[in-house]
Amino acid sequence: MKDITHVAVVGGGTMGNGIAHVFAQNGFTVHLAETSRELPDKAVQTIGKNLSRMVAKEKITDDEKAGTLDRITTYTDLKAAVENVDLVIEAVPEIFELKKKIFQQIDDAAPDHTVLATNTSSISITRLAAVTKRPEKCIGMHFFNPVPVMKLVEVINGFETEENITDKIVTLADKLGKVAVPASDSPGFISNRVLMPMINEAIFCVYEGVADAESVDKVMKLGMAHPMGPLRLADFIGLDVCLDILNVLYEGFKDPKYRPCPLLVKMVDAGKLGDKTGKGFFNYTSK
Ligand code: CAA
Repeated sequence: MKDITHVAVVGGGTMGNGIAHVFAQNGFTVHLAETSRELPDKAVQTIGKNLSRMVAKEKITDDEKAGTLDRITTYTDLKAAVENVDLVIEAVPEIFELKKKIFQQIDDAAPDHTVLATNTSSISITRLAAVTKRPEKCIGMHFFNPVPVMKLVEVINGFETEENITDKIVTLADKLGKVAVPASDSPGFISNRVLMPMINEAIFCVYEGVADAESVDKVMKLGMAHPMGPLRLADFIGLDVCLDILNVLYEGFKDPKYRPCPLLVKMVDAGKLGDKTGKGFFNYTSK
């Protein structure tokens, strides 16, 4: 089976640019696809900024930064981005219909040997794979934010994923300096099955007046050594993303224990989504 050397990343948002960064830094040729001209440029700017931070901390040299950026080419034409690569990682927003459309387009344009991976945090790999003509070559490759820093890649098999594809992705994660943890295709996989109920419960504590947001976070940071409290983390992930994932858990298991807290629903309705809107459980407008 052909080695993976050329990778396309579809979507240049927070996760997409982090994924492109990590592949390019580890010597892979990266095609970064976005829909409009400005978006890929913005993604590459972010990658440049994050690489500069690594240069400043003497983790990489200026030459390594330049080499990493040289290995990234941006595309606005999805077909052109994927027609010559060994692996595609889709990292577009968590909307099934959008992912489905993109997966079909990628499947039509990519070579037969190409592995199709999705960075979904909760959508069923089996459902996505089923819209392609190669379900055996579809897999979940779930990275964590900030991608250049977080060690984990959750690897999720769909119903038809071939064992050699899983092995290939686990080996690939190792080449990226990451640790792969395989999980089966169940709502929220491992990561969000465990993380989101904790975040939801932290929100219930605020909703029911047990404590304010600052106190809830202080308990988890100082008492449990979490690098960020659950509410700071929810803001960092995006409250809309947290709500979407909780809804996938709630609908997937039909179990009330995953019911999103009404306060979370209200905050999303009010457009208070966390870091990206400047306001969530905490205020970021001074940043
Ligand atoms: N690119 C490169 N390096 C970065 C970076 C980026 N985007 N962001 C941070 N860093 C580096 C910094 O340079 C710094 O490096 P040193 O250790 O060498 O100094 C290090 O990361 C720590 O950064 P800071 O000192 O700026 O800040 P910090 O100590 O507060 O750490 C953090 C920031 C790494 C984000 C830390 O708070 C943390 O680990 N938080 C938890 C993050 C987490 O849980 N992520 C998973 C979210 S869930 C998800 O992504 C998936 C999902 O499905 C919802």
